[in-house]
Amino acid sequence: MSKPKKLVVGNWKLHGSKAANAQLLSGVLAAGPYAADVGVCAPFPYLADLQAQLASSAVTWGAQDVSAHEQGAYTGEVNAAMLAEFGCRWAIVGHSERRAYHAESDQLVADKAKAALAKGVTPIVCVGETLEQREAGHTEEVVKRQLSAVIHTLGACIAEIVVAYEPVWAIGTGKTATPEQAQAVHALLRAQLAAATPKASTIRLLYGGSVKPDNAATLFAQADIDGGLIGGASLKAADFAAICRAAG
Ligand code: 13P
Repeated sequence: MSKPKKLVVGNWKLHGSKAANAQLLSGVLAAGPYAADVGVCAPFPYLADLQAQLASSAVTWGAQDVSAHEQGAYTGEVNAAMLAEFGCRWAIVGHSERRAYHAESDQLVADKAKAALAKGVTPIVCVGETLEQREAGHTEEVVKRQLSAVIHTLGACIAEIVVAYEPVWAIGTGKTATPEQAQAVHALLRAQLAAATPKASTIRLLYGGSVKPDNAATLFAQADIDGGLIGGASLKAADFAAICRAAG
């Protein structure tokens, strides 16, 4: 099976304003088109603006979270059908910041991935170890446990997701995993997926954690790295565009 097309997704986190977003997206569009698939994940209130500005472009958009529930008394939550109404292609689920600050469990993350897929929104499932876990030699065990909950919950649909490996110690720290470190974990994840689906080679495995214009190409050149999930550098049009081009 041929290798999947590279994908670069910006995770804006808790940043932006209507004016700043419009300017950022204009810059990203002006620097395109891109050979890779490109997406941006914004805070919920801006999804309508993204839909208006990006609908006629090749750049896709999505959210940074989604509820595991379809509807009901869940104050503050946003469901996958709502994301679909605003044209969302993606929903990031299980980002380490949500696991850490909102106590999201592996099973909740898996349920969110299932809820997204059910409405045609592709979940970008994040996995990754903390520095303490890496230093204790537990990286493999941690990322496999995180992914395994999603594999068991989705069954054959596992082939429809995107996985992002984001070592927690590399997020926002300027400490990128070396291409070899990242590739080693991606290979483990690919093997775990291969045991669950014959389509494992078509699943896009993104690397995230201090990806910048100057390190992106080497990371993306690794055998099992199919693109990136970009935090800080996705807030600067020139940097994000350069990273997208590095994937092309
Ligand atoms: P940085 O690129 O800022 O390290 O963030 C990575 C990340 O968390 C993307 O989801």
